[in-house]
Amino acid sequence: MESRFAATSKKDLLDKKNAEADLGGGEKRIKTQHAKGKLTARERVSVLLDEGSFEEIGKFVMHRSRDFGLDKEHYLGDGVVTGYGTVNGRLIYVFAQDFTIFGGSLSETHAEKICRIMDLAMKNGAPVIGLNDSGGARIQEGVLSLAGYADIFYKNTLASGVIPQISAIMGPCAGGAVYSPAITDFILMVENSSYMFVTGPNVVKTVTHEDVTSEELGGAMTHATKSGVTHFVSANEVECILYIKKLLSYLPQNCEDDAPRLPYQPANESRPILNTIIPENPNQPYDIREVVEELTDTDTFFEVHKNFAENIVVGFARIAGRSIGIVANQPAVLAGVLDINASQKAARFVRFCDCFNIPLLVLEDVPGFLPGTDQEWNGIITNGAKLLYAFCEATVPRVTVITRKAYGGAYDVMNSKHIGADMNFAWPTAEIAVMGASGAAEIIFKREIAEAENPQEKLAEKIEEYTKKFANPYRAAHRGYIDEVIYPEQTREKLIRAFGMLENKAATLPRKKHGNIPL
Ligand code: HXC
Repeated sequence: MESRFAATSKKDLLDKKNAEADLGGGEKRIKTQHAKGKLTARERVSVLLDEGSFEEIGKFVMHRSRDFGLDKEHYLGDGVVTGYGTVNGRLIYVFAQDFTIFGGSLSETHAEKICRIMDLAMKNGAPVIGLNDSGGARIQEGVLSLAGYADIFYKNTLASGVIPQISAIMGPCAGGAVYSPAITDFILMVENSSYMFVTGPNVVKTVTHEDVTSEELGGAMTHATKSGVTHFVSANEVECILYIKKLLSYLPQNCEDDAPRLPYQPANESRPILNTIIPENPNQPYDIREVVEELTDTDTFFEVHKNFAENIVVGFARIAGRSIGIVANQPAVLAGVLDINASQKAARFVRFCDCFNIPLLVLEDVPGFLPGTDQEWNGIITNGAKLLYAFCEATVPRVTVITRKAYGGAYDVMNSKHIGADMNFAWPTAEIAVMGASGAAEIIFKREIAEAENPQEKLAEKIEEYTKKFANPYRAAHRGYIDEVIYPEQTREKLIRAFGMLENKAATLPRKKHGNIPL
């Protein structure tokens, strides 16, 4: 016999409401969304989550506003789809703004829905993924909308370092819509369809008289290369969501947890190709990514912030199945020098890894900090100090390999033993000194060179002398600043053992409210 419920209009009403909510702002607006090459909020959620795992929360929530015609216009869900589900079997919380409803703009109730899942995520220790597509504050709601944003910013900040927070930008994100993503750990953007700006091109034109397109002002490549606001750029939305899934695979669920470890079959870990990777001429570049690829498990290197400050490379990878974070100077770009952008990029990455118990591997080949007025006037001192501070404070297992240059302050900064690194290796090609040999010789032998019969010859002789004495790893090894000078081919094996040995590392910082990183 059919149940009484199935036969009643009560079931029809629920069916109707579910169908209505599923349609968001209606078929016409969905068509417009698709015509722009964009998915709807629900489609995005279904690409992100394991099939059938999504549980929606607040599907029938509606706004409570009555001004500017809002008393007549209501949509179930109020412009954001929220809930939880799994990605590769692991719990995550998700919100996806629905541009088909008031342009995904944020109302009081829309904000409440996001806050609700953030609260659940905090209580249950799982990541929050935000799929943002929003015209910013719902203009008709005035201060209620601003209050909603502030509630989210506050929760983002409290959640920072407790659970991973990832923001994908999948449409225009204007005004307040950019600040919540900015507080989260990672931002991903989609080429040609996502924008982030505090004020759009029209306001810019009025205020500064600049003519600029949305793409130039706040498109994906702008934020990937110029501002560094976004960490990843993808060609389309599906690729963007796949990046989120990949990123999650390296991360723990929360700060009390360890990242998932994949099974690993011990094999021959020798990598003879590394013996020939450093060029004869110490001023010749090479691509540090080639070293990274040799040291890490096959195809596991996942680069973060690839297009920004390319003189430093950061990203996640696996070594013997363990998730690690890599920070590597890149000799192929600006000789791997540390500048403002590189310092900021690496500092943020180091802090993320430290928040979430991800061990750090540092590959060092750095001629020093970049000199010049541009760098000094824009604060290389404060910004370089960020990286220094971030390393000093990190309590995760930390291993350094000096492949070539480790000069000046950069030697100290790049995860030296002195600032808390656990194991420091150097290749025989390492040069550890206050500065390069020619600069050093010119300064300390200035008078001798000037007074010599043949100053050029004298300079060359002094450079040779300084090089012999300092352009090697042995002075540092004699002092114990380097734990071992290793054959490059052995490096992977050494790293597997070192990270294994450090697996249960427990280190604490002095009790304090919080430190004061130079911002
Ligand atoms: C209410 C909005 C809206 C908003 C868009 N819509 N933004 N409704 N509040 N903020 C509605 C439109 O009325 C329209 O409704 C639908 O969403 C789609 O918008 P379109 O303009 O047709 O789409 P498009 O041409 O793609 O342009 C998208 C856009 C533009 C670039 C986002 O809509 C825009 O510039 N919006 C305003 C952005 C803004 O200034 N926001 C306030 C920022 S201030 P219909 O019914 O036609 O579908 C802010 C302060 C917070 O956020 C600060 C906290 C720190």
